[in-house]
Amino acid sequence: MSTRIAIVTGGGDCPGLNAVIRAVAKASTKRGWECIGVLGGYEGLLGPTDTIPLDYRILSGLLPRGGTILGTANRGKFSAKVGHGESRALSKELLDGVKTGMKTLDLFALVSIGGDGSLSIAQQLFEYGIPVVGVPKTIDNDLEGTLFTFGFDSAVSCATDALDRLHTTAESHNRVMVLEVMGRYAGWIALYSGVAGGADVILIPEIPFSYESIGAKIQEREHLGKKFTMIVVAEGARKKDGGFVTSGTQMKTGEARLGGIGAIVSTEIERRTGKEARVCVLGHLQRGGSPTTFDRALCSIFGATAVELIAAGEFGKMVAFTGPQVGSIKISDAIGKLKTVHPEGSLLRTARALGICFGD
Ligand code: F6P
Repeated sequence: MSTRIAIVTGGGDCPGLNAVIRAVAKASTKRGWECIGVLGGYEGLLGPTDTIPLDYRILSGLLPRGGTILGTANRGKFSAKVGHGESRALSKELLDGVKTGMKTLDLFALVSIGGDGSLSIAQQLFEYGIPVVGVPKTIDNDLEGTLFTFGFDSAVSCATDALDRLHTTAESHNRVMVLEVMGRYAGWIALYSGVAGGADVILIPEIPFSYESIGAKIQEREHLGKKFTMIVVAEGARKKDGGFVTSGTQMKTGEARLGGIGAIVSTEIERRTGKEARVCVLGHLQRGGSPTTFDRALCSIFGATAVELIAAGEFGKMVAFTGPQVGSIKISDAIGKLKTVHPEGSLLRTARALGICFGD
């Protein structure tokens, strides 16, 4: 009987992928299994298969390393996401290709590390009889069923650091400083970094904004003698009567590429208030570099728990931080719906209690 498993990483990269790979490889080796990594996303499972052994030689130094040593893909044959909330069914040919690849590699289980798109693929594989478990990854923290995805804390930490830096220059020049952060259609990164970085205004997709409301906040601060204002804008934020601001579409998948709202807000604030405004787009800095301490711990727990799921034969499940412990849920319960910021959530209510303006 096979004692070999494989890990596949899909979608955009994020801090902590390598830490999960390390944890899965270590925990499975401890059980006497062999662990291999699939290169370049799911396509590495199609013939000719493309894999590397994940033995102790390759695991050294992986915990703090950004990116993924396996490479990843958010386009190509296995791109399951075609737009906001929509997913594409894999062809029978691809499903058979994965089955054959797993047989050729003598695998008895697959660990799929990814966000909504990659886990939608994992669910389809599971429904096709392929033994797979999932690990939730995304800086956006928008996956249902888990309080936190790994990578989120690292992205928030990067955005908070940027706010700290922008704060001092905004204050020196009496400017309005706008920081645009990622997060797709959810405002988690903006909300957490905005509160942690002392923002005065936080604009998130869940709460459409008006320039009148932002202008009033700036005026209120001026009256208090505060001549600068810090604004965090999620890339998916939009005006009350406006649509999402995009900077094109992702090639092949056709998914909208969000971005550009920060510059629009900055220009409009300058026009309306006469105050100098500047924009900073944090972009992919949020996805690069070392995971935070929290993410390293979370990744280690997620990886070890994924191996426990395999050992228990609980396929079709995804590791989830259900609180207070890490547990698991069905992959099908995590995909296809966004976990967005709840208007009555603790952090949002706290932010309002502290006087932060959401532009509503
Ligand atoms: O889902 C993660 C994410 O970083 C989003 O926050 C962002 O909108 C998108 O991916 C960017 O994708 P790409 O790396 O393809 O530009």
